[in-house]
Amino acid sequence: MTSTYDLLDARLTAAFDRVGRGADPVLRASERADYQANGALALAKALGRPPREVAEAVVAGLEVADLAAVEVAGPGFLNLTLTPGYLSAALGALLGDARLGVAPAAPAHRVVIDYSSANVAKEMHVGHLRSTVIGDALARMYRFAGHEVIARNHVGDWGTPFGMLIEHLVDLGEAGAAATLGMGDLNAFYRDARVKFDADDAFKERSRLRVVALQGGDPETLRLWRVLVEQSVRYFSEVYAKLDVTLSPEDVVGESFYNPMLEAVVADLEAAGLLVESDGARCVFPRGFANRDGEPLPLIVQKSDEGFGYAATDLAAIRDRVGNLHADELLYVVGTPQSQHFAMVFEVAREAGWLPEGVRCEHVNFGHVLGPDRKMFKTRAGETVRLVGLVDEATARAEASLAERHPDLAGDERRHLATQIARAAIKYADLSTDRTHDYVFDLDRMVAFEGDTGPYLQYAHARVRSIFRRLEAPVDWGAVAFALAEPEERRLATGLLALPEAFAAALSSLQPHRLCTYLFDLAQRFTAFYDACPVLAADEPTRTERLALCELTARTLRLGLSVLGIEAPERM
Ligand code: ARG
Repeated sequence: MTSTYDLLDARLTAAFDRVGRGADPVLRASERADYQANGALALAKALGRPPREVAEAVVAGLEVADLAAVEVAGPGFLNLTLTPGYLSAALGALLGDARLGVAPAAPAHRVVIDYSSANVAKEMHVGHLRSTVIGDALARMYRFAGHEVIARNHVGDWGTPFGMLIEHLVDLGEAGAAATLGMGDLNAFYRDARVKFDADDAFKERSRLRVVALQGGDPETLRLWRVLVEQSVRYFSEVYAKLDVTLSPEDVVGESFYNPMLEAVVADLEAAGLLVESDGARCVFPRGFANRDGEPLPLIVQKSDEGFGYAATDLAAIRDRVGNLHADELLYVVGTPQSQHFAMVFEVAREAGWLPEGVRCEHVNFGHVLGPDRKMFKTRAGETVRLVGLVDEATARAEASLAERHPDLAGDERRHLATQIARAAIKYADLSTDRTHDYVFDLDRMVAFEGDTGPYLQYAHARVRSIFRRLEAPVDWGAVAFALAEPEERRLATGLLALPEAFAAALSSLQPHRLCTYLFDLAQRFTAFYDACPVLAADEPTRTERLALCELTARTLRLGLSVLGIEAPERM
């Protein structure tokens, strides 16, 4: 089915076009009417005519009588109020549509999403939490939209620290090292290696030789390196399972994967005349980048010691994703501090001809996670906060609050529910604010059942579902008439019809919080409806009509949460 927004937009676009070729109706949901189109203001300016006159001219050629009543308001707004007949038919269609009005994308894109991307033998920190949660929400949103998603977990699995890490592995013995890493004690592993490296010259020398052996492809060294990678990936997978994230070990395509392509990156940049020697390093000076003194800024592709850096790998990754994977969109879910890195890498790729116009390439940046003191989120000892610890703590809190609310709930059922609530709490807190902003990690607020939280939305869903458990027989949704006599019913109904545009806005802007805002608003509309309108106690046909509104609310909440990566339990 075509969404209400798209239907109105198409009719308006045609009418605006008659008054001013190609004019945008600027349609959006409104508090005054159901929708408002403000395009007459800009069009009036362009035509040099009074806005109200332009608005009247648009209305004269507008055919929407089957959808909405139109009124010119204020300086020249078009207020559109959906007709009762349209509302009833649209809600009926919604009941028969598993996609709840969201049309599948045409054409479908192939989208590479680079996310999570932690570092081998290093603890995942809250920045990786954000990348994982936002990236997975985007992956699910794209998949639901009908696109093909290729996840790329671009783990840091290469570089000079691996000499030191491998030597530390040798010192501990493989079994001992595997035990430490397997337990997820990556902080300790990395820190101990580092301490030795800084204090012990012999160890430092061994590490240096080990890097050379690693780069030279020494089989035993590669085997030891693989132990480190495999143990870390196993640990990452545990974290993903804990968070209910769709990444799998097959999505791990680390920095090392691009090693064989790096020589060609340099050679081709050279051939394109883009490569410049600067202090022994080979750099590209992309257009439009300067330091504070106005001097051009280099992107270092190969260091003076011949080693390749992070930038070279990302250039090779672009070539792979465009040239071999044939991606239409490249997304990088990485924190804001890497903005300049990505901007420079993208620009170099464009100049080198590796990134065609038609391919969308975006750094999906995000802000910091702050502690309660509004400083960077760290443990009291100043260490990285362990991700798993956070999930465990959220689970414990959810379990405690469940024990209070539902003392009758069996232990394992309670535990399972607590896990679902904890994930919702953590993910929603991350997803519900503009990703470019910092946010304060406040577990108490996140797990609360009140306020704009994940558990609140889960609870809203479960509350609707509980109504249906009190029914003796399933309802036939075949022939529901929606009279929408009460204003709260009507408000809920228009909210239910607005999922497609909320979803589209979230997807096109790569801002999952827009979907969160929609779902929170819908839950509030439902609460207002439920307070004002008895459901099971109502007489027919109102009872069935209200049950249908409940049904659609539950489905919309469930679908919306699921594309964000949040489960919607039946009871809470
Ligand atoms: N491993 C990097 C880090 O922890 C993030 C990698 C992001 N992806 C990329 N293609 N550069 O900061």
